[in-house]
Amino acid sequence: MTEITKKAITDIQKKEEITVLGIETSCDETACAVVKNGREVFSNVILSQIDIHKLYGGVVPEIASRNHVEAIEKVAQKALIQSGKTLEDIDIIAVTYGAGLVGALLVGVSFAKGLAQAANKPLVAVNHIEAHICANYLTNPQLEPPFLCLLVSGGHTAIVKVNGYTDYEILASTVDDAIGEAFDKVARVLGYPYPGGPNIDKHAKMGNDVYKLPNVVIKNGNFSYSGLKTAVINTLHNYEQKGLTVNKEDICNSFTHAAIDGLVSRCQFFLKQHDLKKLAVAGGVAANSYLRDTVKKLENLGISVYLPQTVYCTDNAAMVASLGYFLFKENKDIATLNLNAAPTLKLRGKKPY
Ligand code: KG4
Ligand code: ZN
Repeated sequence: MTEITKKAITDIQKKEEITVLGIETSCDETACAVVKNGREVFSNVILSQIDIHKLYGGVVPEIASRNHVEAIEKVAQKALIQSGKTLEDIDIIAVTYGAGLVGALLVGVSFAKGLAQAANKPLVAVNHIEAHICANYLTNPQLEPPFLCLLVSGGHTAIVKVNGYTDYEILASTVDDAIGEAFDKVARVLGYPYPGGPNIDKHAKMGNDVYKLPNVVIKNGNFSYSGLKTAVINTLHNYEQKGLTVNKEDICNSFTHAAIDGLVSRCQFFLKQHDLKKLAVAGGVAANSYLRDTVKKLENLGISVYLPQTVYCTDNAAMVASLGYFLFKENKDIATLNLNAAPTLKLRGKKPY
């Protein structure tokens, strides 16, 4: 069998309606979705492995891969059935090839390559981190670049200037842990199950900001989350040594404030500096209720704030299909059957340091 021809690709690029099957297996969610023109979701199927990994306190890579293998075909079929489309109706296949767990990524990449080959469809290689930004187009049909995006996930923390659908500039980012990682680690220390972020969110609502914790913004304007995590652990130890116990709700609240307030004020700074009036938020931590409430307040300052529906904040394939569409239209990252997983893939764009 041969790969799809350049002419066939150009013909599809000219179509007014392009339907994309998105495939996502970078971590512990097996997900497939059918999306039209990067914005209209026909189906979005997510099979989470959280209950399996919860038993181990975090994602076990080998178990994640095995579960993706068992689930991927059924999830893809379900996404097609729910969308009311057949494989024939799909114009292109978009798959996450990085960043993520290598074994997990390979399941999605191999499946997508097989499908693209068998059905003779173009294959687009999608960067998971960039796809998170596209979650905003699914919920906000009117949103167009340029805008500022606060990207906060389990693996990344960055403020990104989105110049075009596939053109990004990193203005600030973490120098160590990602914000979601800090949420999960602090949750573990406090005895909450994996994933910790949603548990901290829930308990923070019942507490107050009483513990003094360091700002995550460091001298050069980037962020450090390992210092904040250590400060929480030290606070717990200090109380323990004195025979006292910390109030868990209060420490969750104080940690949430410390993790988020500095990020939002840096966003304000960059909005002003780049004369932008639109702020979008993306990534799993965009589901955090305090973060959502805090950024919404920027609307009082004349900023339009865009938040994806929470189902599009955490890992999903609709965001992958969305970015796949924009890349395909711009003739970027159309992959051959040599596509491999890229576990350490970075967000394209200029680094701040
Ligand atoms: O984007 P995502 O699903 O996976 C990555 O690409 O990393 O993000 C997962 C992260 C986890 O660290 C999880 O604890 C965090 O998002 N998270 C939250 C909330 N929901 C998920 N963190 C804080 N508050 C939440 N409500
Ligand atoms: Zn993610």
